[in-house]
Amino acid sequence: MSEPVVAQKARYPFEVEAGKNCFWCVCGKSANQLFCDGGHNGTDFAPVKYTAEKEGKAFLCGCKASSKSPL
Ligand code: FES
Repeated sequence: MSEPVVAQKARYPFEVEAGKNCFWCVCGKSANQLFCDGGHNGTDFAPVKYTAEKEGKAFLCGCKASSKSPL
């Protein structure tokens, strides 16, 4: 399996709405980090769906190596 690209060596903070879905980029190739933009096409990767449980700030992984991804 391929290794993901490190998008940044820090987490991405963003505001979330409870129950709203987003698709976190696993491969690190998206030009619209932290979200999947289809840049993984032709690789072994697929985006991970994230649904916030409550409103507020969430922190998603930027290095793509978290054992608790996407957090
Ligand atoms: Fe990275 Fe889709 S662009 S998972």
